Amino acid sequence: MNCTQDWPEPIVRVQSLSNSGLKSIPDRYIKPPTQRPLKNSNNSPNKMNIPLIDLGGLFADDSTLRATTLSQISDACREWGFFQVVNHGVRPELMDCARKVWRQFFHQPMEVKQAYANSPKTYEGYGSRLGIKSGAILDWSDYYYLHYLPGCLKDHKKWPAHPASLREVIDEYSKQVVELCGTLMEALSINVGLEKDYLQSAFGGDDIGACLRVNFYPKCPQPDLTLGLSSHSDPGGLTLLLPDEHVSGLQVRKDEDWITVKPASHAFIVNIGDQIQVLTNAIYKSVEHRVIVNSDQERVSLAFFYNPKSDLRIQPSKELVTPEKPALYPSMTFDQYRLYIRMKGPQGKSQVESLKSP
Ligand code: OGA
Ligand code: NI
Repeated sequence: MNCTQDWPEPIVRVQSLSNSGLKSIPDRYIKPPTQRPLKNSNNSPNKMNIPLIDLGGLFADDSTLRATTLSQISDACREWGFFQVVNHGVRPELMDCARKVWRQFFHQPMEVKQAYANSPKTYEGYGSRLGIKSGAILDWSDYYYLHYLPGCLKDHKKWPAHPASLREVIDEYSKQVVELCGTLMEALSINVGLEKDYLQSAFGGDDIGACLRVNFYPKCPQPDLTLGLSSHSDPGGLTLLLPDEHVSGLQVRKDEDWITVKPASHAFIVNIGDQIQVLTNAIYKSVEHRVIVNSDQERVSLAFFYNPKSDLRIQPSKELVTPEKPALYPSMTFDQYRLYIRMKGPQGKSQVESLKSP
């Protein structure tokens, strides 16, 4: 497979479509009935929510509290693959500021944003589709994608120059989020019975990859017919999502239901990606999620992806492979792995499932 081509069709910015005031959405955003939001959504008022964990306990001197917090993380990873964290060490003002600069970016005139238009070669920049299949049904969102780590891939010229504080704010935000990811990687390693540095080392130590995808979901005149982001699992290691503070939209799959996440104030939503599923030999599983849109409010979210060094081979940890539980996945680099989603677009969990040894 190669990713050297350009988009198969002219790109339409969903924000422009939304601003044009159309009353019905173009056919290519209409999902087949089984994928539409109202199917299987758990919309009852007392609906479940993903676990909320106070990470303060991890940094406490009290070893009982540390153990309790680790076990909450362990339960959340096993049962949900998704949880929210508070007291995570990233400054709340910085979180607000990060959201604000991106909202400002998306509210600039289209010519300003078009200067950063992306291509499927690297996906860096301003984009409106994932996948290059001609005639594909598209999602109701635009996004901005950039690299933070490794340092050799970070290029400020590919980040928006306006608002003027964006580069500085996003540098500081990313630095703090990377630190939090390191803490979570240790907790996960301990929880599956490995040395605390295990997962970080398997990801390449200081050479890990980290990138940011900022999602912009414009208002949609027919939200029941489409999705802001189709069902997928994240291909990388860990994802830390900073959701919109006012508008919900993220839904997590729980058995046959879709649970709409109610974000807690200044929490991050953490989820397990496919690479952790592979490394832990499926002790932890990545979980399908998707985004619904609505007709009266736009939504912004920042998804920070913490990934293995892209040319390292990732495979089930030897310590977690036993005669009773043989390795479920072959080894593969993240560069190879992520070509699938980059070519085909979001497709539930079909990729990691298809790797499974018979
Ligand atoms: C993603 C993602 C969820 C959201 O970008 O991978 O799942 O709420 N985003 O925007
Ligand atoms: Ni995702």
